[in-house]
Amino acid sequence: MATTPAFAAPADKPWLDAARTPEQRAELVVAAMTDDEKLKLLQGDTELDANGTGVNACVGHISGIARLGLPRLCMGDGPAGVGNGMKGVTQFPAPVMGAATFDRDLMTAYGKALGAEHAGKGRNVVLAPTINIIRTPKWGRLAETLSEDPYLTAQLGTAITGGIQSLGLIATPKHFAANNQEWLRLGDGPAYEAVDAIVPERALREIYYPGFEAVVKQGKAGSIMCAYNRVNGHYACENPGTLGNLKRWGFDGFVVADWYFAHRSTAPSVKAGLDISMPGGVSPFGFAEFYGVKELKAARARGAITQADIDGMVKRIVTPMFRLGLVDHPIAAADANANVRDPAHLVLSEKIAEEGTVLLRNERGVLPLKAKTIAVIGDDAGANVQTSERYGGFVKTEDVGTLKAPVDAIKAALGDKASVTYARGTLGIAPLPAMPASAFEGLTARYYASPDWKGEPLVTRKEASIDYAEAGPKAGVQGLPSLWSARWTAGFVPPKTGTYRFSLNGGGEIALLIDGKRVVYVPKQSFRLATHGTVWLEAGKRVALQLDYSNAPTLSANELRLGWQAPDRALIDEAVAAAKKAEVAVVFVADHVSEGADRTDLKLPGDQDALVEAVAAANPNTVVVLHTVGPVLMPWRDKVAGILTAWYPGEQAADSIAALLTGKANPSGKLPVTFPADEVNGPADQPARYPGIGTTARYDEGILVGYRWYDAKGIAPLYPFGHGLSYTSFAYSGLKLSKSGDGWSVRATVRNTGKVSGDEVAQLYVSMPAAANEPPRQLKGFARVSLQPGKSATVEFPLDRRALSYWDETAHDWQLAEGSYRVQIGSSSRDLPLGKDFDPAR
Ligand code: BGC
Repeated sequence: MATTPAFAAPADKPWLDAARTPEQRAELVVAAMTDDEKLKLLQGDTELDANGTGVNACVGHISGIARLGLPRLCMGDGPAGVGNGMKGVTQFPAPVMGAATFDRDLMTAYGKALGAEHAGKGRNVVLAPTINIIRTPKWGRLAETLSEDPYLTAQLGTAITGGIQSLGLIATPKHFAANNQEWLRLGDGPAYEAVDAIVPERALREIYYPGFEAVVKQGKAGSIMCAYNRVNGHYACENPGTLGNLKRWGFDGFVVADWYFAHRSTAPSVKAGLDISMPGGVSPFGFAEFYGVKELKAARARGAITQADIDGMVKRIVTPMFRLGLVDHPIAAADANANVRDPAHLVLSEKIAEEGTVLLRNERGVLPLKAKTIAVIGDDAGANVQTSERYGGFVKTEDVGTLKAPVDAIKAALGDKASVTYARGTLGIAPLPAMPASAFEGLTARYYASPDWKGEPLVTRKEASIDYAEAGPKAGVQGLPSLWSARWTAGFVPPKTGTYRFSLNGGGEIALLIDGKRVVYVPKQSFRLATHGTVWLEAGKRVALQLDYSNAPTLSANELRLGWQAPDRALIDEAVAAAKKAEVAVVFVADHVSEGADRTDLKLPGDQDALVEAVAAANPNTVVVLHTVGPVLMPWRDKVAGILTAWYPGEQAADSIAALLTGKANPSGKLPVTFPADEVNGPADQPARYPGIGTTARYDEGILVGYRWYDAKGIAPLYPFGHGLSYTSFAYSGLKLSKSGDGWSVRATVRNTGKVSGDEVAQLYVSMPAAANEPPRQLKGFARVSLQPGKSATVEFPLDRRALSYWDETAHDWQLAEGSYRVQIGSSSRDLPLGKDFDPAR
C-alpha cells in the first residue's frame, strides 16, 4: 500500500514513521509494549459487537493498542463475498468457479472487490483465499477452494491475495496444510482427535505446498491460517514440519489457528510457529484456553517458552500491519449493517460467472439456443436457484434477498424470439415436508446419555413425528449430557407402490434405515444440510423405520426433521409433457454441499437424475445446466445434447446463464477439477486414503492427484481437467521454444477459426523424462486470449527451472531430471495438438 502515513510520526512513537522498514517499525513497537499488551495480541478477545447492533462484523477480533497507534484486528470470512451472516454485500461465485476462468486479472479484480467490501464492514483481515487442493471431489469445501492442480492454485491464489492486500487489508490464505476433507475435521472420541493426513514428503512439496509457497513468495500474504487436521502425526497448528517452511519461504506475517479446534497446546504451538489463537476463550468442546495471558505467563515461568518466543510472535503480528498499511491508513470500524454493495461488483460477479461456466458438451450445436420453443425445467430454474453455500463463510442467499429466477432471465433474453415454458419437475434439494404423524405406526424415541446409543436409554417415550425446530428433540428431555444420541423406531405401511424420497435435515450424524438398510445418511460434523435418499417400496408391505441421531461432535443447532415425498410422478410427468412440446428442453439441476460435511456420493440429490432421464427420453435436444459444487456423475450424459456446469454462480446466476444459453456470451470456462466417470477409480477412492481408517487418512496416491492420477493410470474421466468448449473453434500452431534468461519461453499461435468471437484458455503441459517418475503431464502455464473470428494471437509461457523440477526425497530438494522433456500446448489436458521435445541441460 501507500507509504505515506496519514499523520506525522511523533518523536516518541518512531514506529509510526513510514520511512522506516516494516521490520524496523515492528521491532520498535514491540519494544514499547508492556508484557500484558503483548500477550493480549496473541488470542482473540470478545470485544466483538462494538456497535451494539447485535451484528458482529468480526468473527475474530483483537483489540488495538490506542496509546501506541496500533489498530484492532477485525477478521472475517469469506471466500465468495463478505460472509458470516452479513447483509448488504455482494454474493460472488464460488471460488472454484473463479478458478474455472483461468483468468489472473479477473481474480485480482475479484480480490480487490472482496477487500473493498470487507473494509466497508470495518474488517482489516480477510480470511481468504482457501487454496487447499481438491484431493477428492467429495470434499465439502470444494466450492470454496480453487483446484486440483498446484500451479493453477498458486497462480490464482496469488492473484486473489494480491487483490485483497492492494487495498490495505491482510489476506489469510488457508488452511495450511493438507486440509482436504471435512470428515473428522474437528475430531472424534473423547479427545476430539482430528484426522491425521499421512502425506509423503514429495506430495507435500509438489502438490499440497506450492499454493502456500506462492502466496507467501509472490503474493506476500500477511497471514496464513493453519488447519484443523493433523499432518504426519502433528496438529497443523503445532507442526514444526509444515509451519517451519513459512520462514524459509520468506514469510514475515502471522499464523492464525483455524477457529476453536485447530489450536491444541501452548508451548508446542508457540515453538512450532502459531502466533494467534482464535476466536479466544474456552472452546465449545471444552479445550483449555491455550494462549490466555495466564497460560502464556505460566508457560514462560516454567521455561517452556521464552520471552524471545513471545516477542517474535508479536513482531510477526505487527509486521504485516505496518507493511500493508493497516497502521498508516487504518480501516475504520464500521456499522456491521452497512451496505457495501457496489454496481461494479455486480458486474464483476456476473463476469466471473460467465467466464467460469464450463460448456462440457454441445452436440449438433444445440447451443446457443436457436429454437423457437423452449421448455425450461427444474426447481433450480425458478426462485430456488442454487447460487452459494448456505453455511460456512459464504454469503447466504437469504442475506442478499430474492434472486432472479433463471427462467425469467432466459425469457427476458430471448424476448419474442422464442416462447419459453416452465415446469418445476422436482421438489428440488430443500428439506422435504415432514413425514406426518399419521404415517408412523408406534413411533418410539429412545434417548441415550452417550453419543453412540450405548447403555440403557435415559428416556423412552412415544412421539408423534420427527420434526423439531431450532431447540431440537433434546429440549424436552431432562438430564441429557452435552454428548448424547437418540433412536426413533416405527413401523411404516407404504400407501402406494413406487419410489419414496426421504430427506434428513439436522446437525449431527444421522442415518435413516429402512428394514435395516441405510437410505439417507448425514455424516458427522454436518452443518444443517438437507440430505436426500430414495427407496422403492411396495404398497401395504410394512417396513421398519429407524432413525439414528448422534450430536457428536457437531456445532450445529439441534433441529431435526425427517421429510418425505410419497411416490408422485406428477411433477416429472408435467416436465416430460413440457419437453415433448418444445424443440429444446433446458433442465436445471442442483446440489448443496458445504463446509462441515463431505458428500457421501457423487450423485445428484433426490430425484433429479430421474428427472433428466425422463426429459431426455422425451426430447433428444435436452440441455442440462448444473448448479453443483463440482463433479457429479451424470448417468444420462450420452442421452442429452448439451451440458453446462455453472457451479454455485453467485447472485447473478440467472443473467449469466441466460447470456450463455442464448449466445450473448460465449462459454470459455475450463475445468479446474477432473469430472470422474465413477466414484471407485479415483486417486482417493479407497477407504484407507479417504476418508481414512480410524483417524488416519493415508495419502498413498502421493503426487497422483486429480488428472495426474487419471493420466498415469490411463483412466478416462467423464470430463478431463482443463476441458471446456466454446461456440467458436480455435486452432493452434507454431510452437516455438527458446532459452530466456535462466529459463525458457514457449510460444504458440492461437487462431479463432469459427464464426463468433470468443475467449480461449491455452494451456501448457510439461512431461518429464521417465527417470523423474512423474505423471504423464503437468500444467505449467496458461493464457486466456480474446479473439474475434479469423483473428489470431501469440500466447507466451515462461518456464523456469523450478517448473521443470521434481522433488527429490533423498536430496530433499528440487532437481532437474536427466533426459528429454516434452512441452505440449492445447485447449485441455487431453487435447494437446502442439508438442515439442527438448533437453533443458543442453
Ligand atoms: C473455517 C475457517 C473460517 C473460520 C472462521 C472455520 O470453521 O474452517 O475457514 O475462516 O471458521 O469463520
